[in-house]
Amino acid sequence: MILLAVFGSPVSHSRSPEIHHSFARQCALKVDYRAIEARPETFPRLVEEFAARGGRGCNVTVPLKHQAWKLAQKSSDSSSRARAANTLLFKTQKDWFADNTDGRGLVRDLVSNLDHQLGGSRVCIIGAGGAVAGILGDLLAQGPASIVIANRTLERAERLCESFADLACKSVLGHDTNSTNSPLTDLKAISLQALQTQDPFDLVINATSLGHHGKHPGLPPSLFHADSLCYDLNYGAVAAPLRNFCLEAEIRYQDGLGMLVEQAALSFELWTGRMPDTEPVLKQL
Ligand code: ATR
Repeated sequence: MILLAVFGSPVSHSRSPEIHHSFARQCALKVDYRAIEARPETFPRLVEEFAARGGRGCNVTVPLKHQAWKLAQKSSDSSSRARAANTLLFKTQKDWFADNTDGRGLVRDLVSNLDHQLGGSRVCIIGAGGAVAGILGDLLAQGPASIVIANRTLERAERLCESFADLACKSVLGHDTNSTNSPLTDLKAISLQALQTQDPFDLVINATSLGHHGKHPGLPPSLFHADSLCYDLNYGAVAAPLRNFCLEAEIRYQDGLGMLVEQAALSFELWTGRMPDTEPVLKQL
């Protein structure tokens, strides 16, 4: 039996147990995946106990992702960049590996499931919190022409741009070693007010927590052209405000359920060595 879990608070609503049990059935593996309620004060003890009971690994959600990254001895590039982990692999009692599969999960959903190519495109991200730190590196790796991060607190967006600036340039080193001064991706921070004067984007990603308060970011329709996609990192009831806004404004909309399934598949692969087929699971959800 492969013992897995998701830690977070609140976590009882999590769809991860259902998703991972579907993956396990598909791969003919015996998996026990539980949702474990944990707050920052209780998480270190609970996760240690879980690993000591033979847990192979776990997912981690709000508000424990930064703490999970700190608890691990080693981490992937995406996890170190984000300073947060959504996945832990317990190699031994004293050798924990932290990964962050959120960004790769988002890219897989956009590119493979939705056929939305990112290379050369114009991307706008609304929000500059932990969720954005988790996806920005993987979005940049796709080589979009520009990524504009719009946030209520401008300094937070500026700090993110600074800490990922080398990735916006790095991709160009691989393509053309003579043009290191011209980044492949124009990465910049703006205020929410400045959204009013932006040209339309191919992709607008909602990474704010407004949905948790029954709100949406109130995006100006001028941000969208006929083929633009508005992608919400949220799913379920939290995604309803933006979904309804887009429906009314006739803007193409997608919630983050596909990203949830894709990031789960990548975690499952890390723990079991098997990459499940996500399509039937997404259909089932
Ligand atoms: P997460 O880890 O889910 O990203 P977070 O780090 O708390 O959560 O980030 C929440 C994001 O939603 C932030 O970008 C936040 O803007 P600030 O950086 O200015 O706080 C954004 N957000 C939350 N409430 C908002 C509101 N009422 N209006 C606009 N943006 C809001």
